[in-house]
Amino acid sequence: MTDRARELYIDLLARMLTRYGFSDGVLTEARFSRVPFLRPVQAQFRKKGLVVARQEPYDSNQREYGLDWPEHAETMVGLRRLDNLHQCIKTIVAESVPGDLVETGVWRGGASIFMKGVLAAYGAERDLWLCDSFEGLPSPDTSNFPQDNGIRLDKEAWYLAVSEADVARNFERYGLLDEHVHFVKGWFRDTLSSLTVDEISLLRLDGDLYESTIQALNPLYPRISVGGFCVVDDYGNIEACRQAVHDYRDKHGITDEIVDVDGSGVFWRVTERIDRHN
Ligand SMILES: C[S@@+](CC[C@H](N)C(=O)[O-])C[C@H]1O[C@@H](n2cnc3c(N)ncnc32)[C@H](O)[C@@H]1O
Repeated sequence: MTDRARELYIDLLARMLTRYGFSDGVLTEARFSRVPFLRPVQAQFRKKGLVVARQEPYDSNQREYGLDWPEHAETMVGLRRLDNLHQCIKTIVAESVPGDLVETGVWRGGASIFMKGVLAAYGAERDLWLCDSFEGLPSPDTSNFPQDNGIRLDKEAWYLAVSEADVARNFERYGLLDEHVHFVKGWFRDTLSSLTVDEISLLRLDGDLYESTIQALNPLYPRISVGGFCVVDDYGNIEACRQAVHDYRDKHGITDEIVDVDGSGVFWRVTERIDRHN
């Protein structure tokens, strides 16, 4: 593959996964679920296979910065954060940084599909781990994580619950499902410490909550190779997530520079592997 063909494939993949430039036309019930009195109406309609829909204009700026929750796209992270993932993977491959790629918080799988496509475009074979409940977010455990108080995405955003089968189908849609794609189903608190991955070259955190961020960092960050990347999707947009990142970094004396991607996503390059047992 020529460099130009590779760039074009990756660009096309990003545009397709975000439906950038595609007008979704109608916005279905998803947005209405924020209006409490319409929820019972929606529920009744849904039982009959119908949806309450509203027409809404498409905004390419929102899609570029990952600011809307698209109706049909496989990812909500936006073009800029996908481009950042591309740059990270390009570096990992060019510098032979060892380790698998892990995403905690997958939704419809789009960011992971993109990572798999980029790996394929560079002829790189790495295992990719998709960690999610595949049932949406947990209800906030405010006695242990008061930072999550008031974040009710478990109730308000039922459409964050996407099954493992649907995510696998999305991978297949792009011809990217193979034996190197692993699904890890369950709450992070139950699954991540026993993940059978020794080395991680890229850890992508996208679980929104303080709980979901810290429960991923604790077991997985120590496995990131030197030269690997830690990418945090919600750092700029969700205070609880940002707090988890800083609490973790402060506890472990991590001073690697946090680089902003698009006002919400950030990343840093790991310069030192921290002690797993600390
Ligand atoms: C914002 S979505 C991820 C978006 C996705 N990365 C994309 O490309 O569009 C958050 C996801 O995290 C998952 N999640 C959040 N907290 C979790 C937890 N503690 N355990 C398991 N899954 C969790 C939800 O099920 C949901 O799929």
